[in-house]
Amino acid sequence: MTHIGVLTAGGDCPGLNAAIRGVVARAVAGGSRVSGIEDGWQGLMDGRVNPLGRDDVRGILTRGGTILGTSRTDPYEHGDGLVSLKPVLADNGIDVVVVIGGDGSLRTAARLGEEGLAVVGVPKTIDNDIEGTEISFGFDTAVQIVTDSIDRLTTTAEAHNRIMVVEVMGRQSGWIAVNAGLAGGAEAILVPEEDYDLDDLARRLLVRHNSGRDYSIVIVAEGVPGPSGNRVTMGIDHGGFERLGGVSAVIAAELEARTGYETRVMILGHLQRGGTPTAFDRVLATRMGIRAAEAAIDGDHGMMVACVGSDLVLVPLSPAVALPRLVPDKRLAELTWFLA
Ligand code: F6P
Repeated sequence: MTHIGVLTAGGDCPGLNAAIRGVVARAVAGGSRVSGIEDGWQGLMDGRVNPLGRDDVRGILTRGGTILGTSRTDPYEHGDGLVSLKPVLADNGIDVVVVIGGDGSLRTAARLGEEGLAVVGVPKTIDNDIEGTEISFGFDTAVQIVTDSIDRLTTTAEAHNRIMVVEVMGRQSGWIAVNAGLAGGAEAILVPEEDYDLDDLARRLLVRHNSGRDYSIVIVAEGVPGPSGNRVTMGIDHGGFERLGGVSAVIAAELEARTGYETRVMILGHLQRGGTPTAFDRVLATRMGIRAAEAAIDGDHGMMVACVGSDLVLVPLSPAVALPRLVPDKRLAELTWFLA
């Protein structure tokens, strides 16, 4: 019998509870035990570990957030790495830790794995920026929320003949911007993967407005640099990490000055991470949770569950999270047929 500890770390996203439920259902059915670790690595450092049985995960499939809580605490930055975790793991008799995390938490998991911790990674993030998997859960829900928002913002932009600049999350990647911008029929999509030229953009928007379609939707990924090349931030969070956000306001002011059109800004922010996961994310997260429990039980440690096509496979954790997964040029090229 394997004793699995499960934690959720980093920013939350829709589908975390579905993944936890998947881990517990599969492990318990196979005669193993699961303990839930509260608030990510912080809970493992503090010893906040509780048994997690089948009844504890009933009714959570559709709920956003995470029943375990999460944090951006890193045991290397805020403790002595593996040394800080060993006593709690030993006291609780945990054999293997399933880490449901984004790129930062999974890099930490990979490092701990290299130092001897038995870990299995599950990729979650709305940003979809984990190199080793074609898709992470949370992304589909975020894209749907942004698409719904674009649909709504389009009608008010059209009524007022305005440019609406919509800022979306994604850190260094433009996946949310590209997919939601395409789904919502945006006129411009600015992503960190590609330079932009405000004069050229303003000119293209004017051509569109002068040809009878007197409004535009401009999607801006939060990681796009400002016109002077600097990253625009909202300061530093409690863990010392840079909070991206606000570049859309700078870009909107520049577009208004160049086009003469009234421009408004919508920063969608944490709305993109809230609420119930889409059916796609519920299914993906559940399957990833099941696969992670199997890997934990089978001794496939130091691995991450990854999606290739519609299959789930195990890939070595360290290389899977070494680099961010960016939007490739061929995806950006497809957009050009639809933009202003
Ligand atoms: O990585 C996920 C993410 O939602 C990013 O897109 C965003 O920049 C960041 O987290 C926001 O984090 P926080 O919840 O700490 O403000």
